[in-house]
Amino acid sequence: MNLTEVDCTPFFNEMGPRDRTRERIVLQLTEHTYFPDGETRTGWLPKVSRAFGALASLSNGRLERGTVCIIGCGPALDGILAVELLRPGHLVLTDLHEDVVATGKNNVRRNCLDLTATRIDGYVSDLCEALLRQQIKADLIYENLPNLATSGDLNVEEGALSASFFAISEVQGKIIPPEYSRHMLGLHYRCLREARECLRPGGEIISCIGARIPQSIIIRMFQDLGYKPTFVVVDLVEQFEAEKVLAEYARVERETPDLEFMFYDLAEGRERLRELEQRGVGLERLADAMADLGIGFNAQAAAQRHSMGRHVAVVGLVIRGERS
Ligand SMILES: C[S@@+](CC[C@H](N)C(=O)[O-])C[C@H]1O[C@@H](n2cnc3c(N)ncnc32)[C@H](O)[C@@H]1O
Repeated sequence: MNLTEVDCTPFFNEMGPRDRTRERIVLQLTEHTYFPDGETRTGWLPKVSRAFGALASLSNGRLERGTVCIIGCGPALDGILAVELLRPGHLVLTDLHEDVVATGKNNVRRNCLDLTATRIDGYVSDLCEALLRQQIKADLIYENLPNLATSGDLNVEEGALSASFFAISEVQGKIIPPEYSRHMLGLHYRCLREARECLRPGGEIISCIGARIPQSIIIRMFQDLGYKPTFVVVDLVEQFEAEKVLAEYARVERETPDLEFMFYDLAEGRERLRELEQRGVGLERLADAMADLGIGFNAQAAAQRHSMGRHVAVVGLVIRGERS
């Protein structure tokens, strides 16, 4: 197995004082591991860090020593964040490949200081299948799964693509309401449905979903599946692997009547989102309020802008679903 290393210390240094992670944070990656350059600056990880920080206080210490499961852990930087910020007694990492899971588990072990109070398990697992098999009951399940199904020539096992694409077989034959599959929410829907069986009473799920579609549809999906959704972080997330990802969203737009996805210029979007927040727009309708501003563009225009060297982004939602 070929391993490469990436130093994430600057990202961790921005968190302020830390007491459960090493001074230097270095991740090892395999060719199956997702970790685009820039992820810790303009991607999801800064939002996940803020969300875990907020959750630690919102949960009144319930997560401390509890069971936290990460579905689709990739390099498990989120696992390291969980150890630092949530302090679980049991951390469960899952992904689709043996080498991704093994490297993710090793990344947590080598970058955390004292794990005597935290048991770490890793499983190769399609979504929550391992939790069901091992009868693990979680206090928190976290997912940041891909949106785009592919049956074609893209190799989803290639680390960079595994962030955005999944094999169509992962949703084939599963019952997913057309409203959610049409809006590219199929894998999130499946995960939320399975997670219900694996959460302790009072447990919760955290989902990271790009609001390329109306926020109201995402809220409805959580409610349909028996969760009370609230928004922990809403912020611009850069679209990585943009060439392939935007081409696919653009293809779906061309082939699906009345369907358009929403993208923004990264810098402009950030500024306008802050203005909306300052005007008191609540997190539960911030993405839709952004869409109403008329500064967004569809995937076909986003692909063109990207080809001219612009940084394209989506409004990223970190959603907390409390099991009702
Ligand atoms: C966007 S990456 C997220 C990585 C990491 N959790 C993070 O937030 O940085 C999505 C991950 O989900 C994994 N994945 C895709 N389909 C999955 C499935 N059905 N079950 C488990 N993991 C899956 C991919 O292999 C990939 O590592």
